[in-house]
Amino acid sequence: MKKGKHILVTAALPYANGPLHIGHIAGCYLPADIYSRYMRKQGHDVKFVCGSDEHGMAITMRAKKEGKQPQEIVDRYHKLMGESFEKFGISFDIYSRTSNQMHHETAQDFFTTLYAKGIFKEEETEQLYDEEANQFLADRYIKGTCPKCAYTEAYGDQCEKCGTTLSPSELISPKSTLTGNTPTKRKTKNWFLPLDTLSPIIKQYIEDKKSTWKPNVYGQCMSWINEGLQARAMTRDLDWGIKVPLADAEGKVLYVWFDAPIGYISATKELLPETWEDYWKGEDSSIVHFIGKDNIVFHCIIFPAMLHAHGGYNMPDQVPANEFLNLEGNKISTSRNWAVWLHEYLEEFPNREDELRYVLTSIAPETSDSEFTWKDFQSRVNNELVAVFGNFVNRVITLIHKYYNGTVPEVVLSSDPNEAEIKKEIDNAYFSVNSYTSNYRFRQGLSSIMELARFGNKYLTTMEPWKRATENPAEVKQTLVNCLTITAHLGNLLSSYLPKTSNQLQQLLQIPEYSYDYQFSAGHQINEPFLLFRKIEDEEIQFQIEKLAKINQLAKKDITQFEPEKQVISFDTFSSLDLRTGYILEAKKVEKTDKLLQLTVDIGYEKRTIVSGIAQHYSPESLIGKTVLVVVNLEPRTIRGVLSKGMILMAENNGKLSMLHPDNNLEGGGFIVK
Ligand code: 2FM
Ligand code: ZN
Repeated sequence: MKKGKHILVTAALPYANGPLHIGHIAGCYLPADIYSRYMRKQGHDVKFVCGSDEHGMAITMRAKKEGKQPQEIVDRYHKLMGESFEKFGISFDIYSRTSNQMHHETAQDFFTTLYAKGIFKEEETEQLYDEEANQFLADRYIKGTCPKCAYTEAYGDQCEKCGTTLSPSELISPKSTLTGNTPTKRKTKNWFLPLDTLSPIIKQYIEDKKSTWKPNVYGQCMSWINEGLQARAMTRDLDWGIKVPLADAEGKVLYVWFDAPIGYISATKELLPETWEDYWKGEDSSIVHFIGKDNIVFHCIIFPAMLHAHGGYNMPDQVPANEFLNLEGNKISTSRNWAVWLHEYLEEFPNREDELRYVLTSIAPETSDSEFTWKDFQSRVNNELVAVFGNFVNRVITLIHKYYNGTVPEVVLSSDPNEAEIKKEIDNAYFSVNSYTSNYRFRQGLSSIMELARFGNKYLTTMEPWKRATENPAEVKQTLVNCLTITAHLGNLLSSYLPKTSNQLQQLLQIPEYSYDYQFSAGHQINEPFLLFRKIEDEEIQFQIEKLAKINQLAKKDITQFEPEKQVISFDTFSSLDLRTGYILEAKKVEKTDKLLQLTVDIGYEKRTIVSGIAQHYSPESLIGKTVLVVVNLEPRTIRGVLSKGMILMAENNGKLSMLHPDNNLEGGGFIVK
């Protein structure tokens, strides 16, 4: 790559619907950061942009689940993610967000240009509608019975039990998750990006990438193209998102996958109001999108199609998508809380960002899914970072202090028999790191640096300077200066991978600036040794493993012990239940039964007889004088010859019944429960 080139590096805008986890980091943000740092160091003009993705179902579903407004959700997670990225040392030039006014305008302008060029197909389709909630229902807001496996809680886009992809019309007895009502159908107009007609252009664009893109990315794209691309709606009937800038588009917003990638453009504009076009439209500029594999279609097909249709923009040069990182044998999941959260790691392992960077880079899912386990984390830190890298550096610095009080000695050997081999090892490391890092093979890049550290350790052990200090002081001086040189190269090479460690080494060695040509002069003073890395103790790992085990137990309990939630009901349905407090005046057993008690309950305006199946849980005497919750408008029933008018509410846990009482000691009965 020519020096001084503009490189725009983007990392997928994470949904602001939950905290960041190690899967996000290993799959996207860490490789993007290593690449950006490396390219900057090579003298290129790199801009590294990212921000929170604040629209789409991911956000509204989370808000609904938490009973909050979407704005509150995105504000919370935008802040948390931004802080975690910063603490972890991801070197974004900007971390923006898609709720910014600038982004809304940029996305709307982009849409307007496509509209004015007549790119969109306008189409009326029938969509499911909730009459009571007064809105169209996105696929995720519809539940019903799966036509394949009869699971009653399947979503409109997918059955989570059997994994089948569905469309809402395939569901048996579909219901709106907003109100529980059966949806009706309504016609609605939307604007479609004609991927079908744009297909030949996209195909050509992808084919041109055959030799430079990762085979998994290229392969996925070609398989979609060969299956036949369909026009896709770029607008949705929703109220959360960017308003469609057309007069006849009331109540419609831009499709989240239309606005999100434009977020890369808005972030660049926000960062560089005057020169952003150099990065998006300039001739000597390249665009690199770091993403996870679930985002391939959007970045390699839909976004390039949008850019092409708009005109004037460069197409992405590289999309080095990674596969997924699993955790302790299971898929990482935000909704199931199965994750190692970045903000928690940063709190529980303070100042140990580079340990996580090291492990996540070593196991990055570059070519296939990979696995994080805490035991493996411990063993990589202890056996590699501490035992190989840290050990080498520490031995070198300690010996220089021991023999020369930390001052670089003058080397007097006229020729060093090891010089050529050492130089070869160092040059190999630079060559490998350059070629692997430039080609998105960060695992190998990091491993080449570790190879140099291993070589250093071996060399030091073979030369045994501690045995020869008096016998051959000239050789010892040469050995230790050689080791110091290797240490400086390690620090230089590590700067994109483990930036903090690289900085610490630079301070330790008192080098003003790392460079390939740097040479220590005699008399140069280095700092006192300190440990770059400390071992991860068994207890620290055990704590993490137990934390995950608790989540697992909870998840298992979820499935086996809790009944599935019933359909959502409307407020009117809820209000039709007449719930009041009742005061128990009398209680006795119903004759010839084990389970039933006959209660006389004061509900304020009258005394009721209620038969309740609680005899095995409560003695009649213990109930007198208790205030309980009563459904007073339940259809009366005759039970064992006694007319029961109402029901006492109980909570059940594993077959054990527990009566519900008002929190305050409400005397008497008849208070309405709302
Ligand atoms: O999958 C996701 O997390 C999306 N929010 C990624 C968006 S990438 C880009 F298009 F902004
Ligand atoms: Zn199913």
